[in-house]
Amino acid sequence: MRRYHLAVIPGDGIGPEVITESVQTLVSLAVAHGGFHFDIQQFDWGTERYLREGAMMPADGLTTLERGGFDGILLGSVGDPRVPDHITLWGLILPIRQAFDQYVNLRPLRLFPGVRSPLAGKHPKDIDIVCVRENTEGEYAGAGGRVHQGTEDEVAIQTTIFTHMGVERIVRYAFEYARQYGRKKVTSATKSNSMQYTMVFWDEIFRQVAAEYPDVAHEQQLIDSLAARFVAHPESLDVVVASNLFGDILTDLGAALSGSLGLAPSANLNPQRRYPSLFQAIHGSAPDIAGKGIANPLASIWSGQLMLDFLGEHEAAALLMRAIEEVLARGQVRTPDLGGTATTRQFGFAIQEQVQSQVAQ
Ligand code: IPM
Ligand code: MG
Repeated sequence: MRRYHLAVIPGDGIGPEVITESVQTLVSLAVAHGGFHFDIQQFDWGTERYLREGAMMPADGLTTLERGGFDGILLGSVGDPRVPDHITLWGLILPIRQAFDQYVNLRPLRLFPGVRSPLAGKHPKDIDIVCVRENTEGEYAGAGGRVHQGTEDEVAIQTTIFTHMGVERIVRYAFEYARQYGRKKVTSATKSNSMQYTMVFWDEIFRQVAAEYPDVAHEQQLIDSLAARFVAHPESLDVVVASNLFGDILTDLGAALSGSLGLAPSANLNPQRRYPSLFQAIHGSAPDIAGKGIANPLASIWSGQLMLDFLGEHEAAALLMRAIEEVLARGQVRTPDLGGTATTRQFGFAIQEQVQSQVAQ
């Protein structure tokens, strides 16, 4: 029996509610499948801990995750109105991405049968995009500073950092992904008309890498018009590779187009597996609905599905994907963001029940 050691960080806001359904789904899937087992260790890291002890995670938190032999980390969400977001995010999620060299942020964006897109006339076949977002450098490298704080002479600088290695590996990942998953085209999000250093550099590397993949079509598009194209012609997009900031924005846009921010998952990957990878919904902690039990757990459950795939449990991953598709298509149980009245628990249970019935078939 294959055993996987999982770290679970429920985090803030709706995080604990959605992560419960994700973990429950994975555990019941493992039991039904019979070929693997999860050992789970939970961590109370997040804003409550910050308010209590002055830090989102312990000083040795990253070491604990690194030495703990974890195969994956499941994270709920981070962010709380009581503390500025840059403190909570730089206290937990961003350091994990950087320290564990999770340089790929893989974000599939799909319109499912049974779900309505806010775009008129768009059907499931029209919205099926995979965004490969750079995740450790670029605009979110964290390089910069403020001087003369609090005076009229104050200056703030935030520097975008692109390294040759960093750009090349994310672009290469996008092409490899396209090859492996039978996708036809990679579109690069750029802004080299105005950013003559970083983005021209990005474009050059993109073209060099693209030349090594003659079997995959490629193109480049300026981020502003690409954003418009997401709305006007999503069907013309396949794999999109983007810098940290551009990918961040495009994926919230794409998630909204696919019917709800409550659907879109992400996988923060260290493809070499030197460090554990982290799986998390794209959405935030949604403090406005936290504690009400109505958050959509699907993004978190789908993130667990991405983890199964990454762990090599392809059969179980396919099974869970089918269950998600099936429950959405049937449309009887759905949370308010999708126009239904179901609770987080009911929606999670519907997926778990569907998984069981597929295994029994
Ligand atoms: C995301 C989020 C994060 C990001 C925040 C919470 C730091 O928006 O995962 O898309 O910007 O990467
Ligand atoms: Mg985001």
